[in-house]
Amino acid sequence: MLRVGIIGCGDIADLNILGYIHSYDTEIVAVSDIDTECAKQKLAKWNLRSLKLYKDYKQMIDKEDLDIVEILTPHDLHGPMTEYCAKAGVPGISVQKPMAHSISDCDRMIEICKDEKVRLKLFENFRFYPVYLRAKELLDQGLIGELLNFRIVTIGTGGPSWPLTLRANLWRTEVDRCGGGAMIYDDGQHKFSMALWLMNQERVEKVYCWVDYFMGVIDLPANIFWKYPSKNNEDLPKYGSMEFSLASNLYYPSNYYNCDEFIEISGTKGIMWINQCTSGGNFVSKSPQYPPIVVYINGDVETYGEKLPRDWRYSFINSTLHFIEVVKTKKDEPIYTGEQGRNLCVFAKMPQMSDQRRDTVYWDELTAENEEKGLCTIKNPEEADESGISKFFIRNNKDFRKGKKQGLIHKKLEFEYDK
Ligand SMILES: NC(=O)c1ccc[n+]([C@@H]2O[C@H](COP(=O)([O-])OP(=O)(O)OC[C@H]3O[C@@H](n4cnc5c(N)ncnc54)[C@H](O)[C@@H]3O)[C@@H](O)[C@H]2O)c1
Repeated sequence: MLRVGIIGCGDIADLNILGYIHSYDTEIVAVSDIDTECAKQKLAKWNLRSLKLYKDYKQMIDKEDLDIVEILTPHDLHGPMTEYCAKAGVPGISVQKPMAHSISDCDRMIEICKDEKVRLKLFENFRFYPVYLRAKELLDQGLIGELLNFRIVTIGTGGPSWPLTLRANLWRTEVDRCGGGAMIYDDGQHKFSMALWLMNQERVEKVYCWVDYFMGVIDLPANIFWKYPSKNNEDLPKYGSMEFSLASNLYYPSNYYNCDEFIEISGTKGIMWINQCTSGGNFVSKSPQYPPIVVYINGDVETYGEKLPRDWRYSFINSTLHFIEVVKTKKDEPIYTGEQGRNLCVFAKMPQMSDQRRDTVYWDELTAENEEKGLCTIKNPEEADESGISKFFIRNNKDFRKGKKQGLIHKKLEFEYDK
């Protein structure tokens, strides 16, 4: 039995613990959180009241002889916590995305984990979402030919969705803790991950972006464009784009966050559309117009993946089960490795830098050395206003009530999994 310890019992811990609870190979033995009251409530909610609870994560690491540590804290803590766990001899460390708030912390985490022979996993769960796994399989079979363009739209909706803590929203508005904006740098990690993985790419060449900071603090709406590297002049050009749109008036039930994603990939033979991720399972998934995967080739349209679970939680469970196997068998590298996690941080910093400079940003500009010289630091927007976050939620709720008055009736959303 692998002994597991969790650092951080905030919002996402509800999903990160599921894989360990499902596994016959692991036992969660302890959790740590500086907010012990919140952690106690979580343990009760998870039916794990008997677990040991530490206020100081270092004590948990020193006393519990853990095989796996799951780091689920604000981004500026990922680096120091990884370092402590690695040096204390924990053989498997899983860090929630983004790997860190800075490139220099990413570099350090990679180096220390290599020195200490630790398996470091950057936990990015979209990479394990059943519909995306199926789409990747089809793309790898060459169904739509050579891949040329990638487009992903994230719609920020009015919910109803998970009740989130104000605390979790506040530290994300501090750019020194978060590493960038709550949408582009944090949530965007999943989307940049899809833009690389589904397109068989490790990096991009250059990025251009425009961001408007709605209510002063939140980095959306935003439009981002990039070019993938070409190896030689005969290569077909390959591009990508990402849009974060805001529709806070939109009634759109989700069991998780108040957003959803739509992907379009075009190739030399056809086009693939992948519908939904975070809010998968709601009424859109149940409509025949939005099957999980739609493919156009040679004058025909086919659909795929209708029998796959469209509940976002499986992306977490699958990702955790994968890591348990990696630590247990000591054979494979985790998905993602530290280097791949660092790449996501580089990619996710490029758009806001571009917006700040009103210019194109190149991949190689994002380095620890340039960070030290202050050449690639993301700043809070000039018009940033701390009251913006509460204004944002007041506005969201107001818009949501307006939507309901317009006749949008909330039906309780249930997934097959819960019945
Ligand atoms: N994969 C996803 O879809 C997803 C979604 C949300 C969050 N996340 C990631 O998960 C991580 C946590 O985010 P969250 O939304 O759960 O945040 P949160 O604020 O809800 O939770 C963070 C927790 O860490 C605790 N904490 C802070 N300092 C600590 C310390 N020194 N020792 C122990 N505990 C400490 C806080 O008290 C809090 O309970 C972040 O990296 C975030 O980006 C990932």
